[in-house]
This record gives sequence, structure tokens and C-alpha cells, in this order.
Amino acid sequence: MAGPGRERWSSKSGFVLAAVGSAVGLGNMWRFSYLAAENGGAAFVILYVVLTLAVGLPVLLAEMAIGRGAQHAPVRALAHFGGDAWKPLGMIFVAAGFVILSYYGVIAGWTLRYAWIVLSNGFTTEIADRFGDISEGWDAFAFHVGFMVVTIIIVGHGVKAGIERASVLLMPLLFTIVVGLAIYAATLDGAGAGYDYYLSADFSKLWHPQVLQDAAGQAFFSLSLGMGAMLTYASYLDRDQNLPNESVVIAGADVGIAFVAGLVVFPLIFALGLSDKVSGSTVGALFITLPQAFAEMGGVGRVVGLLFFFALIVGALTSAMSLLEVVVSSAIDRFGWSRVQAAWLCGGAITVLGSFAAFDIRVLDVSDQFANNILLLGGGFALCLFVGWAMPDPESEVRAGAGNVPWLPVWRNLLRFVVPVFLGYVLVQAVPDTLIAIADLFSGS
Ligand code: PHE
Repeated sequence: MAGPGRERWSSKSGFVLAAVGSAVGLGNMWRFSYLAAENGGAAFVILYVVLTLAVGLPVLLAEMAIGRGAQHAPVRALAHFGGDAWKPLGMIFVAAGFVILSYYGVIAGWTLRYAWIVLSNGFTTEIADRFGDISEGWDAFAFHVGFMVVTIIIVGHGVKAGIERASVLLMPLLFTIVVGLAIYAATLDGAGAGYDYYLSADFSKLWHPQVLQDAAGQAFFSLSLGMGAMLTYASYLDRDQNLPNESVVIAGADVGIAFVAGLVVFPLIFALGLSDKVSGSTVGALFITLPQAFAEMGGVGRVVGLLFFFALIVGALTSAMSLLEVVVSSAIDRFGWSRVQAAWLCGGAITVLGSFAAFDIRVLDVSDQFANNILLLGGGFALCLFVGWAMPDPESEVRAGAGNVPWLPVWRNLLRFVVPVFLGYVLVQAVPDTLIAIADLFSGS
């Protein structure tokens, strides 16, 4: 059971805000907007929402039940309920935290750099040409290091004084800014064309396996599922929390912010006539087209741009904290290190690993594909099998603090049959594609 000294969130809302902080991040603004743009607009949005509810939510509740029940970081938590045979899965989670944070930190570094540009002399329309210098090389690495140091310091302060305090302070700010920007965007002439683009549905695209894969990967990435982040955060909870209610709030906030972020991004781009520049590349919409829009808006653009990139930094930071926490809490469990020691050693190693993504954007792209398609979807698949078949009585873990929830048998059966079959189907397609992308990277083509 829990050691007597295990840390605790100081309040229910502290946990919820931290978990929402983990979920809401670059995924909601950077990945979501380009995926929606690429994959048929509203049709993709609908598919994504359906998958979040049908697949993401059950897995989120599963992670929370394991973490709170075991009161340990992933490796020990899985062993607690399933025996040592499940430890390797926990180790894969830790490895996923390492890999994801290594490139996530680089992208977060770009957002820091962009905020810096707005503060110093504002965006110019040449930002597209400069993006190459910003995104790769020593500059990218330096800002990545800066971002990682802040993350390490916060996580080093602990669950309550570090992660919770930062989330409670920053998340309401993020919500206010994103909603405020969406309202502002609605007032722009030409915003309507952006809404049309974002909200008109091209259902024909939905039947491509690639789109299903993207939507499933995005649902997992955006909810921070499949690598034990939510599991770890829930391990600092007491048994009086109502996990089903909280999982719904977390998923709702995550989808809500992604949706509202789209209401910011597309009207801005279309109002400034830059729609032909929404490139399908991973970085296009957010890091090239949008800053061009800010540049063309003049003085107002500086304020709007600063707020936008500030919100991105906040989202990235609260998500990075959870990625690092998975690794740090596991190191504390395993090696008995102090939290500060673990934060600097693990965070330092991740920062160094991130140099590969910082110096070669193709590594970043392939790492993102690998993380989503294989690590998170594969991790989610294994988690379903764990809770569906191996864990003795997951329903009773959920019932603690929630009372008798009538649909718990449905939940268990979703995890037993429906979700793993779906994820298995997606994985069969995603794994070969990802392996080809990795092979291409190494062969240099
Ligand atoms: N959910 C975060 C985002 O959308 C990313 C993340 C993935 C965080 C996995 C933790 C674990 O940006």
C-alpha cells in the first residue's frame, strides 16, 4: 500500500486542474488544428469527439482506477494488481514519457521563441523563411533547454507545491485567454470563411484508414492516455474522489479547449486571406501561417500573438509536467532518489535526448508518429487487456468514492472487447506505416 509519506493533492479541484493541465496542451492547439485541416474539417472533429467518448473516456477511467487503487507510479502499480509479468508495460510507459517529452520540449521551445519574438520586435511576414532557423539547430536546442529547466524546477517542487500550484494558477488563465481570443476572432471581417472551412464536413475523407488512425492517435495524445500520466496523477488521490465524474470533466475540458482553439485559429487565418497557406505539414497552421496573420494585423497582432503564444506555453508546460512526473515518480519508486534529484537527473537525460529532435526536424516528426501510433495506442491496447482481463476487480476501485455506478459492467466490457478490437485494428495499419517512416529516416531518404 501507500507509504505513509506519499504525497497528496491538496484538493479535488487541484487534481482536476492538474489532470486537465496534462490533457490540454500542444495537442489541442498544434496537432488538433492541423489534423482537422488535413482530414475533412468538421467530419474529423466529429470522429474525434466520438472516439474520445467511446475509446478515450473508458481508458482514462481505467488509468485513474489503477493509479488510485495502487498508490504507486506505473511500474509498481501494474505489478500491484497484475503481478510482475506486467512490469515491462510500466517500463514502456516510462520510456514513452522519455521519448514524448524529448520532442515535446523542442516544440514547446519554439513557442517560447515565438513569444520572445513578439515581445522584442513583433512578427514580420518573413517568419515563414525564418521558421527553418528557429525550428532546427542550436537556437531550437537552447529554447528547449530553457523550457525543460522550468519544467524540472516545477516538478522538483513536488505534487502539491509544484505541479498543483502551477496548474491552479495557470489553467484558468489559459481558459480565459483561449475563450477571449475566440470571441475576438469572431469579430474579424472574413471570419465566416474560417468557420466554413473548419465546420463544414467532408465525410468522404472519414473512410480512409489514415484518418481513423489520426483521430484515434489524437484522442489518446490529447487526453494524455496510454503511457501512465493520468495513472500517476491519480496515484496521489484518496479513495473519496468520484472518478467517473472527474474523468468526464477532464475529457470535456480537453475536447472543449481543442474545439475552441479551432475557433481561434481558422477565423484568424481566413480573415487575413492566408487560407492558401494552411499547409498540411505538422507545423504549418500554427507556426507559419498564424504568425503571418499576426504580422499583418500590425499592433493588435502583437497583443493577440503574445496572448496566443502565452496560452500555448502554459498548455505545453502543464502537459510537460505530467510527462516528466511519470518518469520522476517511477525513478523515486525504483531507486529511492529524492524528488529534486530525480527531477534533475531524469529531466536532464530527456533534455539531452531532445537534442536529436532539436537538430533534425525529421526526427521530431518521426518521434511524434512513433509515440502516437505505437507507444500510446499500443499502451492503451495493453491497458485495456490489463483492466479488462488481468486486474481482479476494477469495478470496486471505481465504486470507491462514486457509489454504485450502474454502467460499470458496460465499462468493463468496453475495455474487454470493444476498445481493444478497435485499437488492434488501428494498430495493424499504423505500425507498418510508422516502421516505414522510421526506416526512411535512417536510410536518409
Ligand atoms: N495531452 C498533451 C497535449 O495534448 C500531451 C501529452 C501526451 C501529455 C501524453 C502527457 C502524456 O499536449
